[in-house]
Amino acid sequence: SIDSTDEQTSAQFKVMLLGDSGVGKTCLLIRFKDKTFMSGSYIATIGIDYRNKVLVVDGVKVKLQIWDTAGQERFRSVTHAYYRDAHALFLLYDVTNRKSFDNTRAWLAEINEYAHRDVIIMLLGNKCDSEDRIVNREDGERLAREYKVNFMETSAKTGLNVELAFIEVARALRDKR
Ligand code: GTP
Ligand code: MG
Repeated sequence: SIDSTDEQTSAQFKVMLLGDSGVGKTCLLIRFKDKTFMSGSYIATIGIDYRNKVLVVDGVKVKLQIWDTAGQERFRSVTHAYYRDAHALFLLYDVTNRKSFDNTRAWLAEINEYAHRDVIIMLLGNKCDSEDRIVNREDGERLAREYKVNFMETSAKTGLNVELAFIEVARALRDKR
């Protein structure tokens, strides 16, 4: 019916970006929202902030409210309060930083503790443009299989897979509805 179409076009979902400080959460959001990247200038996010973005997925509008969180440990308790309302979570690590990859297990434990049980999770290996890569694509794929989450490698710098990652999540959200 017309009503259900209206409902579909006004679907709004809360999405959160999680992961260690410096993995590229803010850059990923800026790339997605503004199609830009400013290299060199690293400004750590303080607390939490959001930006809205409307995506058209298979001809249907999907509104995403994207929460960019601070990766720094001292802001974690602030972030926890937001997990519960999130429909989807992007968990980022930096393919040039082994520690950020290893830490994703701790992040997944936090997600398990604080997020809704059927939240959609997308694991992202970011900075895949870099020549300093030390985490292989296979490592990310294996982890994603183990935890039964979605996985992609992205580059906020070049834009590789950034829009696609959001579209995949938006599609999963729409289908679940
Ligand atoms: P917090 O706010 O502290 O949690 O960090 P963050 O995850 O938001 O990291 P941010 O987006 O600020 O990026 C950190 C640094 O990584 C910046 O110096 C960026 O230029 C760099 N960076 C981010 N994404 C990429 C990428 O895809 N490729 C490369 N080569 N560098 C990136
Ligand atoms: Mg940030």
